[in-house]
Amino acid sequence: MIKKFQDLNYTDFVGSINQWNVLPGSYDTLSKWKVFSNLNEKSRLLEIACTTGFSSRELAVMTNCSGVGIDISEKSVEAAQKNKDIYSPEINIDYKIADGCTYQDSKLFSHIVLGSGLGFFDDPKQMTNHIPDILEEGGYVLASPFYAIKEIPQSLVEKAKKIFNITVTQEDYKEVMNIYSDFEILFEEKSIPIPETEDELDHYCESTIRKFEEEEGHLSEEDKKIAYGRLMEIKIMSNELRPYQGYSTLVLRYRKSTYKKRCVELF
Ligand SMILES: C[S@@+](CC[C@H](N)C(=O)[O-])C[C@H]1O[C@@H](n2cnc3c(N)ncnc32)[C@H](O)[C@@H]1O
Repeated sequence: MIKKFQDLNYTDFVGSINQWNVLPGSYDTLSKWKVFSNLNEKSRLLEIACTTGFSSRELAVMTNCSGVGIDISEKSVEAAQKNKDIYSPEINIDYKIADGCTYQDSKLFSHIVLGSGLGFFDDPKQMTNHIPDILEEGGYVLASPFYAIKEIPQSLVEKAKKIFNITVTQEDYKEVMNIYSDFEILFEEKSIPIPETEDELDHYCESTIRKFEEEEGHLSEEDKKIAYGRLMEIKIMSNELRPYQGYSTLVLRYRKSTYKKRCVELF
């Protein structure tokens, strides 16, 4: 049954295998967002481009906040719902198929989670321009974008495109930060990811396939081999990009009076 996964595009494969595709910095970033945006049980959060729901699910577990997670990939949203049902049924987050650039809700949100999702949008500015329509006054935007710290060789960019179906960001720090310039920066931390060892990659891929088997029932050895192979290919590709990447953990604030203005120095 798993053979068909070979033909899926990257995001549908991630959804189908239920890989807990996480934001840059994983739990470390979530902990900083929680503290520096005062996320708590009264908060109402929207995770845009939620994939399998990791950020909203874990933030809800950590803080008891409520909210919504959206993604345009049907398979990702199915996986996010399944993860909630299996791993955190107590949380109050709804998962829906929707386009972040046009999403509307009956109530405004106090926090919008973007992670590194804007890198996957056709038009990131269209997304950030829509934020004032759905975020309350004084609300927070939580992002963790990757940026290039040195030029990525063209051969690597092309190789990554075949695997992720997108052109990985080759924008430098200033270009990436420009996308968020409409908002106030309340907290920022720049980090350099350290590539993983072969053992660490194997432990991760093997655990993810085992988790998938526990969720879906017995898999043949051949099926496991195919799923492991594709996942490992994705992880090796990410690892090869690490020496060229940094990421920034950001807590941004939206206020009507300062939106699109820069009234304070950057440092
Ligand atoms: C790698 S994932 C996002 C990364 C991860 N959630 C994070 O925090 O870094 C990219 C996701 O963006 C979704 N996506 C792309 N364009 C979108 C849009 N316009 N609205 C909602 N989701 C979108 C894709 O379906 C995919 O699941």
